[in-house]
Amino acid sequence: MRLILLGPPGAGKGTQADVLSSKFKIPHISTGDILREAVREGSQIGKSAKSFMDRGELVPDDIVIKIVVERFTKKDSAGGFILDGFPRTKRQAEDLDKALNSKDISIDRVLYFKTSPETIISRLSGRRICPKCNAIYHIKNNPPQKDNFCDKCGAKLYQREDDKEETIKKRLKVYEKTEEELIDYYKNRGILKEVSGDLGVEKLFRSLIDSFKKDGLV
Ligand code: AP5
Repeated sequence: MRLILLGPPGAGKGTQADVLSSKFKIPHISTGDILREAVREGSQIGKSAKSFMDRGELVPDDIVIKIVVERFTKKDSAGGFILDGFPRTKRQAEDLDKALNSKDISIDRVLYFKTSPETIISRLSGRRICPKCNAIYHIKNNPPQKDNFCDKCGAKLYQREDDKEETIKKRLKVYEKTEEELIDYYKNRGILKEVSGDLGVEKLFRSLIDSFKKDGLV
C-alpha cells in the first residue's frame, strides 16, 4: 500500500503514519524527520534547509524532491510506503507522479487530515519529540512513562524549534497557501479521502483501517 498523508501542522500525520507503518510493515517517510536529522548531522542538505525550517518556511522543492525520490527507491519501500509531509506544493506532487510513473507504481490513497485550529494549537504546543528514534509524544495526550524521556529508546525528549508560537503561525500560513491546490490535485485523481484529524489516535486509526477494508486496499 502506498499512502500520502496531507494536512496542517499538528494534524497528527506523523502519529498515524507511525501506527500504520507498524501495522502494515511499510516505511514511514517523513520529509520533516529526514530534514531535522540532516540539520543535526550538519550535512550539506541540513545546512541549506535549516534557515527555512527555523522560519517555518518550505525548504526549496529541488532539495526535498531529491530526498524523497532517493528514499522511496530504497529496497524497504518495495512493498509500499507512507509519505508524511510530502508533497507540499503542486510541483512536488507533479514530480512525485513522474517518479512513480517511471517505476510503474502509483499512490493508492491520499488521506487529508481536516483539523480544527484549536486542536492544532493544543497539539503543537504540547508536542515532545525523541531526537534518536523520532517517537512523538504529547505532554497531556500521550505523555512518556518517565517525564521527558523516550519510552522506546530512553533518549531525552525535546521541543521542536519550530513549535514556538510565532513559527507555528507562520507554518499555518504557509500551509494554507498550498492546501487547496494539493487537495484539488488529488481529488481530480479520485484518490483523496478526507478524515477528521480531531479524532483521538485510536479512533482515527480504527476508522482508517475500516475505510481501507471497505475500499479493498487491505
Ligand atoms: P514537518 O515535520 O512535516 O511538520 P508539519 O507538516 O508542520 O507537521 P507536524 O510534524 O508539525 O505535525 P503532524 O501532523 O505530523 O502531527 P504529529 O503527529 O507530530 O515539517 C517541518 C518543516 O520541514 C516544514 O516547516 C518545512 O520547513 C520542512 N519541510 C518538511 N517537508 C517539506 C516539504 N515537503 N517541502 C518543503 N519543506 C518541507 O502530532 C502533533 C502532536 O499531537 C503530538 O504531540 C502528538 O502526540 C499529538 N497527537 C497526534 N495525533 C493525535 C490525536 N489523534 N489525538 C490527540 N493527540 C494527538
